[in-house]
Amino acid sequence: MASLARILRKRWILYILLCLPMAYVVVPVLQSDTKYFADPAKYLLDYVGLAATWLFVVVLSITPLRRISPKSALVNTLAYHRRQIGVSVFIYAALHFLIYYAYTGSWAEFVKDWDKLFILSGIAGFVLLLVLAITSNNRSVRALGSKNWKRVHRLAYLIMFLLIYHQAAQEKTGFRETAQVFAPLLILQTWRLGLYARKTLRAKNATTDSPNS
Ligand code: HEM
Repeated sequence: MASLARILRKRWILYILLCLPMAYVVVPVLQSDTKYFADPAKYLLDYVGLAATWLFVVVLSITPLRRISPKSALVNTLAYHRRQIGVSVFIYAALHFLIYYAYTGSWAEFVKDWDKLFILSGIAGFVLLLVLAITSNNRSVRALGSKNWKRVHRLAYLIMFLLIYHQAAQEKTGFRETAQVFAPLLILQTWRLGLYARKTLRAKNATTDSPNS
């Protein structure tokens, strides 16, 4: 595991891995997949949206994984690349948005769709991802101050709920796929909350038990 983590720590390997979902797009073409040829734009829209969502799940899993396994070389490598993975979420989401915009054909047609709640949740998620991408550099950390920067980046949890809704609301067969994508993240975040609650309770008990209190 440690040697895999050492290989993955190389930036150029990370960039190749982050581009892989794009390269995979050619597979249905090579396999003459009928689902792709029925409506290529729709296929690409869904595919790129899913790639953005999976990468988002990876980024949000890093902090709870670090709490659970702080010494894991693989988890620490993921943490080392967190910023690059986060920016790639935004790039895939921007591609998803552009494909959708091209699919609708015009601004007027695009605006017509805004009465659909799942479209609004996608737009809100995208705008918030843009805020996180713009403020993901060291200059923004310095300008905002570490505390405020952390506050801004907590928007990621709001994005999580918007994306869960965005994906689940379109599933014609229930929430199966959305559950498969987000369940590991929700389990990890609940675990992290549990650890935090236990730590706070212990600290509170230690203060009440102390003879000086
Ligand atoms: C700019 C705002 C957005 C718009 C207008 C938009 C629009 C759409 C549309 C029209 C679909 C296809 C619905 C269908 O199958 O009929 C879709 C699917 C999807 N979108 Fe978005 N979206 C936006 C933002 C996002 C963002 C920010 C993400 C994730 C980071 C995302 C992830 C997804 C996913 C995962 C699917 C479903 C793919 C599947 O299950 O096959 N979308 N979106």
